[in-house]
Amino acid sequence: MSKINILAIESSCDETSAAVCSSGRILSNRIATQAVHAAHGGVVPELASRAHMQNIVPVVDVALKESGVPLEEIDAIAFTQAPGLIGSLLVGGQFAKSLSLALNKPLIAVNHMQAHVLANLIPEAKPSFPFLCLTVSGGHTQIVKCSGPTKLEIIGETIDDAAGEAFDKAAKMLGLPYPGGPLVDKYAKEGNPSRFRFPEPRIPGYDFSFSGVKTAILYFLRNAGTAQVYKEEFAATEAERKHFIEENLQDICASIQQRIISILLNKLSRAAKELGIKDLCIAGGVSANSGLRKAFSEMGEQNGWNTFIPDFQYCTDNAGMIAITGYYKYLENDFSDLSVPSMARGF
Ligand code: KG4
Ligand code: ZN
Repeated sequence: MSKINILAIESSCDETSAAVCSSGRILSNRIATQAVHAAHGGVVPELASRAHMQNIVPVVDVALKESGVPLEEIDAIAFTQAPGLIGSLLVGGQFAKSLSLALNKPLIAVNHMQAHVLANLIPEAKPSFPFLCLTVSGGHTQIVKCSGPTKLEIIGETIDDAAGEAFDKAAKMLGLPYPGGPLVDKYAKEGNPSRFRFPEPRIPGYDFSFSGVKTAILYFLRNAGTAQVYKEEFAATEAERKHFIEENLQDICASIQQRIISILLNKLSRAAKELGIKDLCIAGGVSANSGLRKAFSEMGEQNGWNTFIPDFQYCTDNAGMIAITGYYKYLENDFSDLSVPSMARGF
């Protein structure tokens, strides 16, 4: 049988990405990151849509050329349908539909969160089904039980902030630019994770909560680390707070990161033990965190579990993961018609 070539487009948030995969093997994965948001301290939806409009044609063009697959040999167009910023999703969605119409090739609507999980099926060494995936991004934190490429069930999720949001909000409180997650990771490498203690929430089942940690960090910083986290009024002056952060940035980052990681991995390991599942994956932007990657692998070694982490380029938003998901949906003839709507929510 000849190869199945999928062209995929991802535009759910602030990365414009295109990829080509040939029967499950990624041939190209191009990502244009939108630098415009850094000055605003977060993603500005309208600016994101406009940047997608600018980037989408060159990104698709480069991804196609790099793959070596001529446009006429593309068998289907996959795109991110949901969830995400609606204006951003519409740009990629309309582009994919136009291509599908022009080439007379099927359209495949892909869920972004499912695609983050299936990024673990990109490498040669794949997890066996069923596996558990901890999906941690800027908008989501989920434990997903994956019984087949298209058989996914969410067994736990955050009841407030997502893990990436917790990283980014903590970074913002420390005066670091957006997105702060990678910077917390960088400073944490040089710091002592046991120096400061932030609370671990008690949430039933496999659900997560990060709002308590966020409040604890806020009070801790306002008190310049001097007073007890919840009890005292804000004792420190602005200058004292700044000085405290400057002097202790690495230890603060390491301690915050340590707590976020322990919240995530304690729930994942509990799920693995209770469900008797031995293959574990992580996915999503926060799975690029070096502390999480290390702690996750160590947890696997200690418990005799097989652990899988996507390559860095497939952790944060990328079209490679949309392409691999599109491939599995193609095998099941799971196509969409051109009227399929983009949706801000889903999964
Ligand atoms: O999956 P993703 O690229 O976009 C969403 O779908 O949200 O995830 C982005 C999130 C941001 O919150 C970012 O700060 C976080 O992933 N992130 C990290 C690291 N790299 C990205 N958080 C902690 N450490 C990192 N190294
Ligand atoms: Zn994502």
